[in-house]
Amino acid sequence: MAAAALACQSSSAPPAPVAAPAGPTTSAPAPRKGYPVMVGSANALAGMKLHYKQLVEGADPLDAAIEVVKVTEADPDDTSVGLGGLPNEEGVVQLDAACMHGPTHNSGAVACLENILHPSEVARLVMERTDHCLLVGEGAYRFARAHGHPHVELLTEATRKQWLEWRERHSNDDDWLPPTKDERNARLGRTLRDVAELERAGYDHAWGTIHCSALSVRGEVACTTTTSGLAWKIPGRVGDSPIIGAGLYCDSEAGSAGATGRGESSILSLASATMVEYLRRGAAPLDAGLETARRVVRQVERQARWQGALMGPDGRPSFGLHLYVLGLDGRTAGVTLKGGGSYAVADPERGPRLEPLVALL
Ligand code: GLY
Repeated sequence: MAAAALACQSSSAPPAPVAAPAGPTTSAPAPRKGYPVMVGSANALAGMKLHYKQLVEGADPLDAAIEVVKVTEADPDDTSVGLGGLPNEEGVVQLDAACMHGPTHNSGAVACLENILHPSEVARLVMERTDHCLLVGEGAYRFARAHGHPHVELLTEATRKQWLEWRERHSNDDDWLPPTKDERNARLGRTLRDVAELERAGYDHAWGTIHCSALSVRGEVACTTTTSGLAWKIPGRVGDSPIIGAGLYCDSEAGSAGATGRGESSILSLASATMVEYLRRGAAPLDAGLETARRVVRQVERQARWQGALMGPDGRPSFGLHLYVLGLDGRTAGVTLKGGGSYAVADPERGPRLEPLVALL
């Protein structure tokens, strides 16, 4: 759906750029009570179908959001998150995750975490059981193990074969020989069909991630984002998902937001904090998402002067970035830089479902 088209919860006029704020006054709507809402990436739908009920029954918004994303973290067929996530260039799955809790304005995160099934839960432990905001690598793993999280091999047979395929075809300048076409088809068959299916639903398998923001019956917000990050990344690369303000942000005075897609662009624009700041100034969720997307595109135009591959031959960014916004009044929006796709929403009127993303370009 193009930017000029409607988001289901939004007004019918084409979104205009949001005016710069006159000052630091807060004009976000008052929190809507008794109207529980979730918004997130399309791959959050399965978890929303199982756990939106908890939010309706009065759960803390972070408890409910983490239950949503745990469903995808444990799904071996989702190659963007947790078990079955695509590995780094050495074939090792490294996970990033964070959570943020509006009522306490606190956060926790882990990055480059290996062999732990539920990084979102470990992120919450960092928030609740340490005085830190972010643990990485071996330290994060030991912390998770200290809290009883079992050691799990996250590379599945399917993702090992995808990684091997990538590794063998990666360069003509090494001793790995590419597989024959028949071997490749036999090896990848079902996995590639699954990825194509996900891409048709607007899911980006290279930078795929899961985000969920929630508004509780008490009008409190919280959010979480979890990912295996960029497929075939350089070991140690951290994306936007565990960076507060980039892959997620919430503030009980403004709302909640998250991002999935190319993490580097989300970090460089502080996409989620930016969306929440627009909400704080009274912008509608759709305007907050579109205005942030406009800012990302302007920044990419500057970056493309030295990193040309970021801009496609059609003059649009060559990568995907999806933005999810939740206002304190329960309105939601899903925005993408370009193209189609969908995002997940659950509200009292229509329950959990997919809605079309609004494309800026
Ligand atoms: N947005 C996920 C990542 O770039 O790692």
